[in-house]
Amino acid sequence: MPIRLAVPNEIAPGERRIALEPGVAKRLIAMGVEVCMEKGAALSAHFPDEAFEGVKIINTAEELYRDADLIFKVQPPTMAELDMIKDGATIVGFMEPHKNKDITHRMCEKQLVTLAMELVPRISRAQSMDALSSQAAIAGYKGVLMGADLASVFFPMLTTAAGTIRPAKVIVIGAGVAGLQAIATAKRLGAVVEAYDVRSATREQCESLGAKFIDTGVSADGEGGYARELTEDEKQQQMDVLAKHIALADVVITTAAIPGKPSPKIISKEMVANMKIGAVIVDLASEGGGNCELTEPGHTIDFESRVTIHGPLNVASQTPVHASEMYAKNLFNLISPFITETGDLELDWNDEVLAKSVLLCEGVVKSTRIRRDEGITQ
Ligand code: NAI
Repeated sequence: MPIRLAVPNEIAPGERRIALEPGVAKRLIAMGVEVCMEKGAALSAHFPDEAFEGVKIINTAEELYRDADLIFKVQPPTMAELDMIKDGATIVGFMEPHKNKDITHRMCEKQLVTLAMELVPRISRAQSMDALSSQAAIAGYKGVLMGADLASVFFPMLTTAAGTIRPAKVIVIGAGVAGLQAIATAKRLGAVVEAYDVRSATREQCESLGAKFIDTGVSADGEGGYARELTEDEKQQQMDVLAKHIALADVVITTAAIPGKPSPKIISKEMVANMKIGAVIVDLASEGGGNCELTEPGHTIDFESRVTIHGPLNVASQTPVHASEMYAKNLFNLISPFITETGDLELDWNDEVLAKSVLLCEGVVKSTRIRRDEGITQ
């Protein structure tokens, strides 16, 4: 029996992305899936309903969810959405179980099979399914544009009749997916870029993109290619070195994160007070509280008429066309191997990527990572 896939309108405030795009819809339909989308759901990402050839457009969320076997979401479902979803359905999207304990509990009660995009393992085979990476790359790009917009200087060097303009100095802190894209974007705009990360492997990556690596003498490689938390001594050493560089920067883009933990505080109030007048910090780690002590997530603050500290949230959503296209392709690549010739869904738990991406199944938390983080023993 072909499954019915439902793609609802994302109702979280400010969310402009959608978990489907016309090309992905076409491929799913060709595989025999019955694809349904809520009326006007993709308009915020600039895809009109008419662009989704062969997709059934459903007027209300209630009607859409009622018979859905599989649901594609961007943001975690709300309680109201969960009430509309039938028990035992499969739902795929970002789930943020650390922040959404009640929602996770309700999904367990409803026996939903929940695949969390943030749990997709960072292995070569799963790169095409890695939504953390696709969305982080967009954030890195957009973060630099935000910095350039807020800066009171040009990024490139300009030789003009009125004299030569020196290029801006941009510092990128945290050279993961977002940070590397930020370096590349700032370089393309002509800035002089310095970069820093605690993982030793990043030096070469930063340098290959044309950034000068800031050596703080601290290296903190953690599990699975991620960074670990720094000790108090390491934090101090890092701050002492970074403070000197940050004091000379026009724009600082911060992206440092540690999985499942609040963002590390790297820029203190004192460091901000020593920055150049007119300097800008774009704190892309705002979602986790920010890398700067003064960041107010979701706000732009003007520190003593001196430094602008911008704490944007859900940055990928601000480039909704490409963010939706990339995200929908990530979902397709994750799910399509388990669609049978008759358009049914048969999840294979022996598949490494699937086994690691599952958050909930049969009413229990399956993810070893989340069980460990949440201290779940039974
Ligand atoms: P993330 O978003 O978790 O963190 C961003 C960056 O912040 C990381 O590079 C981290 O080392 C850095 N950081 C953490 N604490 C810091 C501190 N105190 N000071 C400075 N920097 C700090 O990272 P993301 O982008 O999710 O990448 C995580 C890892 O996954 C990386 O090793 C990356 O290369 C790897 N990866 C592997 C993929 C694959 O093989 N399929 C795909 C994407 C990422």
